[in-house]
Amino acid sequence: MEKIVLAMTGASGQVYGIRLLEELKKLGSEVHLIVSKPAILTLKTETDVDLDYIKSLADHFYTPKDIGARLASGSFRHNGMVIAPCTINTASSIAYGIADNLIARAADVTLKEKRKLILLVRETPLHEGHLSTLLRLSRLGAIIMPPVPAFYIRPRTIDDIVAHTVSRVLDLLGFEVEFSRWDGLDSIQI
Ligand SMILES: Cc1cc2nc3c(=O)[nH]c(=O)nc-3n(C[C@H](O)[C@H](O)[C@H](O)COP(=O)(O)O)c2cc1C
Repeated sequence: MEKIVLAMTGASGQVYGIRLLEELKKLGSEVHLIVSKPAILTLKTETDVDLDYIKSLADHFYTPKDIGARLASGSFRHNGMVIAPCTINTASSIAYGIADNLIARAADVTLKEKRKLILLVRETPLHEGHLSTLLRLSRLGAIIMPPVPAFYIRPRTIDDIVAHTVSRVLDLLGFEVEFSRWDGLDSIQI
């Protein structure tokens, strides 16, 4: 069984975390979920979903204060960690090894153990400090994956946009997922 660590932080786009949880449950993976306090605030602002629903989708639930949890150690083996959505605050902590909460610590451990770390960083516009932080993270081995829609799939609903990004995340984690992959154009059009 795939063990996935999922963290939700207080950036806009809580729907990405929720959708990932729902899909991981359908795929039968064991989900270890950490939710930051600002994520709960943003969740209330952006959705009608409550924390109890989110907790019900996870196999194990932690708060960022649970610094002694299994996820804080590299000896806990898992198949990848995703932060969706990921704030600049959390991305910056990870980039500089500031591991004073379970989200940043679990991400730091994921990097040091050379496991997959996927960050759905959401902020716009980005200043030079943000960009250099993301470059640093990429050089440390993280996958920087801002949730930017692909319009070539001709999305009709927000759900289409969210589903496509979530499928790309699951694909990166190694799950067999069906989604609209770019198959090239029939002819050269320029
Ligand atoms: C409604 C709302 C939306 C926010 N959106 C973003 C965002 O898109 N990106 C971001 O980096 N921070 C955003 N923030 C600010 C973060 O929540 C804040 O920096 C917080 O301290 C992050 O803590 P965390 O990384 O522990 O979740 C938002 C805050 C609120 C209340």
